Amino acid sequence: MRATARAQPNIALVKYWGKRDVSRNLPAVGSLSITLDSLWTEMSVEFSPSLEADELSVNGESLPAWLPRVAACLDGVAGEGRQRARIESRYNFPAEAGLASSASAFAALVVAASAAAEVDATTEDLARIAGRASGSAARSLYDGYVELTPRANDISVETIAAADDWPLMVVAAVTGEAPKAVSSTEAMLRSANTSPFYERWVDEQGADLDVARDAVRHRDFAALADVSEHNCLKMHSVTWTSRPPIAYWNQATVACMARVRELRAGGEAVFFTIDAGPQVKAVCLPESAATVEEQLGSVPGVLRMLRSGLGAGARLRD
Ligand code: PMV
Repeated sequence: MRATARAQPNIALVKYWGKRDVSRNLPAVGSLSITLDSLWTEMSVEFSPSLEADELSVNGESLPAWLPRVAACLDGVAGEGRQRARIESRYNFPAEAGLASSASAFAALVVAASAAAEVDATTEDLARIAGRASGSAARSLYDGYVELTPRANDISVETIAAADDWPLMVVAAVTGEAPKAVSSTEAMLRSANTSPFYERWVDEQGADLDVARDAVRHRDFAALADVSEHNCLKMHSVTWTSRPPIAYWNQATVACMARVRELRAGGEAVFFTIDAGPQVKAVCLPESAATVEEQLGSVPGVLRMLRSGLGAGARLRD
């Protein structure tokens, strides 16, 4: 049987950075994210006895480099004795733009694969399987404001507020489109092994999560802005102080951060967050979105802007 699912990327406000167990890809810290709505990945999965090997295409082009990770994820859903599969992926945003394309891809993949294989699995089962492929993918199974909590042998994930409960906007400034110089997995391991700040980062995460969760619960934009920027800068302080250092920013990244702070000082409800790449994601109230987009779009070095509201978790298409 063939099934198709769609999922959107998510942006972490309190970030996952560090692995407690590399072989099972278990995170060292909890995280809190928002799921987007207008950027998406669709995955179609068809298991067939007539296929001799898995086949993967992305936007119509064969992509064998991703096959081992995709195949391992399909094994997690349908078992290692499964039939081989034809997997077709489509994106409506540039996969190389550093906007968490692996999160939406693996979230859509597990939902499509479980339907195609007629496996009876809960959303949390699927989130755990997606999380083994990409830690952040576990959060894209869920709607709106999502908290991921590490457990002794696994993770648990839940929506703490729906997208419609507090419809923030995300305006992303794309400042570089080259593939990452250091993958997030490699960077996390190097951070844990060499940054003098890593332990402190892990120790303080629970306090940041408490503040962020409360801010979401009370729709307190100023509190969410403060803790999110602080958490982002701590994560990047860990990467900068690793040996050799990992610097994901470029000049336009830094200029966009300054512009966001100026806008906030001028009364706009906006804050920034940055992941393992040079893009700046500005999170704002809807009434500030047009100004933020125009202002960041005019920063030298910004290549293009993307805008999204918040949305639903991964789900099947008819
Ligand atoms: O899911 P991964 O392995 O690509 O790691 C994601 C790490 C960050 O995007 C930097 C933070 C996060 O929580 O999404």
